[in-house]
Amino acid sequence: MSDQVRKIGVRDLHRRKAAGERIVAVTAYDAQMARLVEAAGVDLILVGDSLGMTMLGYRTTIPVTMEDCLRHTAAVVRGTKRAMVVGDMPFLTCHLGPEEALRQAARFLQEAGADGVKVEGGQAMAGTVRRMVQAGIPVMGHVGLLPQAVLAEGGYRVHGRTADEADAIFADAQALAEAGAFAVVLEGVTQELGRRITADLPVPTIGIGAGPFCDGEIQVLHDLLGLFEDFVPKHTKRYAELGVAVRQAIGAYCDEVRARRFPGEEQSFT
Ligand code: KIV
Repeated sequence: MSDQVRKIGVRDLHRRKAAGERIVAVTAYDAQMARLVEAAGVDLILVGDSLGMTMLGYRTTIPVTMEDCLRHTAAVVRGTKRAMVVGDMPFLTCHLGPEEALRQAARFLQEAGADGVKVEGGQAMAGTVRRMVQAGIPVMGHVGLLPQAVLAEGGYRVHGRTADEADAIFADAQALAEAGAFAVVLEGVTQELGRRITADLPVPTIGIGAGPFCDGEIQVLHDLLGLFEDFVPKHTKRYAELGVAVRQAIGAYCDEVRARRFPGEEQSFT
């Protein structure tokens, strides 16, 4: 008998939407965490360009390169068997023309072993998304708050509070679904808009700061685990306090080494 685990794929996500079953997604950036979150039961792991902040110490996602994303995506792929793994197209890779975007997207599948890619941007990206989908690359869209536009926007804010902006984001999500995106991330939009897009779209919506009505939810792992301690964004919830746990554990290690209590007999060889 084969011990191969069946991978979750695009059709499973579509079946979930049709059945009204929620899709659970989270970010991860390395093999060990990928193993843990998969064992906990997540359906989809996004190797987000949020790795710029969570792993590399940048203030935004803008300095993140294709090489950074490929390396972390390959690590996550090595740590997973069942969860769908999606790599994130970093800043500018989708703005140098559809052919260049296609070439870079293919690297996620060929070099890192990902199951799909995520593209930030709405109607402006529809042609690029269509080109990728035609080439056989599963694409997840991303509309609403676009972290790669943080400098142009002058910061982060909730989107879709005016009727015009809500209509534009609605049209963005529709354009991506029409272009063949298998799902669309809705980030930082009002819950009313999250509900409206979810009711209309033929493909699943995955919310982050988009209210409770989306087909699925995605959160940044470090926020959920209390590893990012500067502040708790309103859209997240801490399910653990790993920052506190790490400080306590390593503090105890420091104390024991300095007091010559570690290593002891038990950790020593004769
Ligand atoms: O980079 C990322 O982690 C993301 C999610 C927040 C959706 O884009």
